[in-house]
Amino acid sequence: MSQNTTDETLDDAARRTLRANDRGGYTVPTSRLYPFQWNWDSAFVAMGFATFDELRAWREIASLLRGQWEDGMIPQIVFHAASDDYFPGPDVWGIARTPPTSGITQPPVLASAARRLLDRAADTGSAEDRMAAIYPCLLRNHRWWQQARDPARTGLVSTLHPWETGMDNSPAWDAALARVPSQTTTPIRRRDTSHVDAAMRPHESEYRRFIHLVDLFRAEGWNAARMLAVSPFRVADIGTNAILLRAERDLLALAARFGTPADAAEITARIAAMQPAIAAQWNAAHGLFLSRDLRDGAPINAATSAGLLPLWAQAATPAQAAAMGATLDRWAARVPFLVPSCDPADPRFEPRRYWRGPIWAVVNWMIAEGLAAGGDAARAGRIRADTARLIREGGLSEYFNPTDGGGIGGRDFSWTAAIHLLLQAG
Ligand code: DGY
Repeated sequence: MSQNTTDETLDDAARRTLRANDRGGYTVPTSRLYPFQWNWDSAFVAMGFATFDELRAWREIASLLRGQWEDGMIPQIVFHAASDDYFPGPDVWGIARTPPTSGITQPPVLASAARRLLDRAADTGSAEDRMAAIYPCLLRNHRWWQQARDPARTGLVSTLHPWETGMDNSPAWDAALARVPSQTTTPIRRRDTSHVDAAMRPHESEYRRFIHLVDLFRAEGWNAARMLAVSPFRVADIGTNAILLRAERDLLALAARFGTPADAAEITARIAAMQPAIAAQWNAAHGLFLSRDLRDGAPINAATSAGLLPLWAQAATPAQAAAMGATLDRWAARVPFLVPSCDPADPRFEPRRYWRGPIWAVVNWMIAEGLAAGGDAARAGRIRADTARLIREGGLSEYFNPTDGGGIGGRDFSWTAAIHLLLQAG
């Protein structure tokens, strides 16, 4: 995409990108690099489609839910059709389902996306029918998060693989991942680095550990309790927990119309447990929230954009929100564009390497929504303007370099197209 593209052309390009990545009812994040349906990508894609094709938006959610497991888990990947462009494919996961899926999950944005579709629907009758059909799936999914990932009822759910956090090689996972052995029984056959510059992707040493965890969980038969017990990587990711808390609030609103008083009481109880647990992750020195390593119980000393997502969940006190604003100002003094995925003053900051520094439009959108809802219109506006400019000048890229604004990673990316459309829709 050329620089200085007009917004009208860019709107067309964003819609064209979503259409081009549509594989017949589900949308790939981008062709070649990610040739299947990804969980949290599809939630954003559904919101993007809803700006111009509501029925297609609901269909995106229905396709994702075709992969939902009986226990309620919504997998990270649904392998609707074969492709040799991605590793690890369904053969490595070894899960005999139709359609095949991966055996782990991803941040639960789905209930929030579904609520937005319903609230903004022009075709209200059709939206209510579709919502009524998917509400029980969302409820089962949120129950799964508590039963499978917080059976001790601490108020924080565990993630067992960096891919579950969606922020695969975040510096926040360095120490926990170092505990994972690097031997694999599956031969590593990376395909990502044949599509994208290796300097923008996780290191080989991280990939070996990612695959070690897949081998380990496969050997446990993908049994949720066994996975929780044996995983050497077990973190309370602040991003996932904040996204889940926001999703629970959205599900509670939906329960009033599509559920029962008992559902509402159950969701209210989960929210009541999550709020103080997330509040306890506040870190005054960094001016944001931190993840927790659940193997040693210690807070993870890494200031990342995930630590600002409690804004999206409306989980911060006014004083904490003000401190997060000051954190954003400090980061903005070091890089021209917000919001880098890692504190640019951190020695681990790498502006081009995936989740170690680059800006991600979906994270920016959630942070900006949270700031605006909390009354910080100025910083919300700054982040939205930066995101719009990054997309205008760097194209519908997977992520962006916060030091020069360059669009990097995969091209023609569905969730970036979706965020462009959401920013335009206001
Ligand atoms: C990857 O990059 O391959 C991960 O699967 C993302 O979920």
